[in-house]
Amino acid sequence: MMEYKALYRRFRPLTFGDVIGQQMITQTLINQIAHESIGHAYLFTGSRGTGKTTTSKILSRVVNCLNPVDHNPCNQCEVCRSILNDSNMDVVEMDAASNNGVDDIRELRENIKFPPSSSRYKVMIIDEVHMLSKGAFNALLKTLEEPPEYMIFILATTEPHKVPATITSRCQRFEFKRIDASAMREYMHTLCTTLEVKVDDDALKLIVRLSEGAMRDALSLLEQCLSFAGEVLTYEIAASVLGRSNDDDLTILSEAIIRGDVSEMIRLSRIQYDRGKDVSVLIGDLIELFRSGMLFSTMGDDHLMDLPQSELVWIERLTSQHGVKEWIRVLEALMVADQKVRYASHPWIAFELALAKLTAVGEEDSIAGLIKRIENLERNGVQAIHQPVRDNQRTVQQAKVVEVSHDKAVPRQADHGAAETEAEVFDPGDLTLLVIKENWDKYMSSVKERLVSTYALMKEVKPVSFKNGKLQLQLNEALKILKPAIENEDNMFHICEAFKHTFGSLPKIEIIDYALEDTRADEVKSFFKNLVDDDHVIIK
Ligand SMILES: Nc1ncnc2c1ncn2[C@@H]1O[C@H](COP(=O)(O)OP(=O)(O)O)[C@@H](O)[C@H]1O
Ligand SMILES: [Mg+2]
Ligand SMILES: [Zn+2]
Repeated sequence: MMEYKALYRRFRPLTFGDVIGQQMITQTLINQIAHESIGHAYLFTGSRGTGKTTTSKILSRVVNCLNPVDHNPCNQCEVCRSILNDSNMDVVEMDAASNNGVDDIRELRENIKFPPSSSRYKVMIIDEVHMLSKGAFNALLKTLEEPPEYMIFILATTEPHKVPATITSRCQRFEFKRIDASAMREYMHTLCTTLEVKVDDDALKLIVRLSEGAMRDALSLLEQCLSFAGEVLTYEIAASVLGRSNDDDLTILSEAIIRGDVSEMIRLSRIQYDRGKDVSVLIGDLIELFRSGMLFSTMGDDHLMDLPQSELVWIERLTSQHGVKEWIRVLEALMVADQKVRYASHPWIAFELALAKLTAVGEEDSIAGLIKRIENLERNGVQAIHQPVRDNQRTVQQAKVVEVSHDKAVPRQADHGAAETEAEVFDPGDLTLLVIKENWDKYMSSVKERLVSTYALMKEVKPVSFKNGKLQLQLNEALKILKPAIENEDNMFHICEAFKHTFGSLPKIEIIDYALEDTRADEVKSFFKNLVDDDHVIIK
């Protein structure tokens, strides 16, 4: 059976010429080889997947190759082959991240002591060198001070600032850059041709953009896409495999954002939420778009060569309507949101809050402020959905005319809204939906006393049904997005505790995000039931 190999392994560059986007480095190394002035210690720095290990391996072959070709390894002689299949004892690769114990240092010392067994140079590649222990650094330093003729060290790290200066000062330092987008695209295009896959340029643009200059990531993403795409890789396939928002959704949302249309923003972001989109990914997508918009409005389209056509058209249109200040303002807000959602226990709320804030710069920062805005928005925008809730409210108002006064220590209803703290005992048998509604303000005060953020969330629910020991709280349908937040363990704890505090008992509480068909009928029924059955009901 053929061994499966990931794309990035299959296509590890074999010569300096194959290494993309690091010409300064590869050319310098070629020159050193040409002049036989190879260094004894190199420090390769730069972010992951940019070619550090690849280049180390090429260097280790070319210095030992039996028949180098144009200062490159031949990759065919027995020495090259043994290095390629990791069986050459003179080329040692060590991962400092997992080998920094005492034994590893001893092994490192031993290794350095003896000259190469079969090759000209002994090459020691130490990956993530910043992870070495103090002892290991000291052992290394000794040999770096007076390296044997046959030794070449190649130290690689993504975090050069963590490598002691005593070490770095003895190395030739090469900084691997993030790989240029167009070079990356071109490379992957060739690769697709080799694999006999037809690929859209826009699909490659997307992959390149997501990989942020790391070729390894780009190849992994390409591979993910190809496993779905078969022989033709379109932008649509790439976008859906890579979990990117559909372009249309994204541009429509962006337009709402730059227009400052809060109700539309929230409606659209909820659609993303419903689809199971990760909020960080969504914000990332938006940041990309707005960054492009900002670049376009300051510098024209020269800098946007890497954008898919559809986005370019969109940006051209919007930049004709909104100035650079607008783009920057939104971009800044998105960057802040990006940070905030990482630490937020309710990331989607944090995101909506950021959106809402955009339209009302300077208004209060609190969740209550957001809720207020959402309330305004309900009034003006998304009414249809709210109809049932409105009907309930009306019924409740009607019900308020009635003063319920059970004699078994049932509260008087007149003190609506008063933030009463002492618990009042309701007989569980007397607890009805009507009583719960009548005392809802009191209950809410108790929630507010416990935790304001829970209170802000609970402002979006209304008690709609109380049957067989189960209380259903209906969440404003347009705010479905808040459901998981409300159901979060902490919030539920406060919701229940406050309920016990206010009503003396605890039914099963369920949050629903749809309207109950017969809510109103039930309510009227229970209203009349109270009128008829309960002789303590007095009509004012
Ligand atoms: N500059 C590059 N040109 C071509 N391919 C690259 C380049 N950098 C990385 N790759 C690809 O990514 C894989 C991993 O690269 P590697 O050299 O191990 O990265 P690093 O050591 O910098 O993290 C390689 O096998 C290769 O397929
Ligand atoms: Mg590496
Ligand atoms: Zn060779």
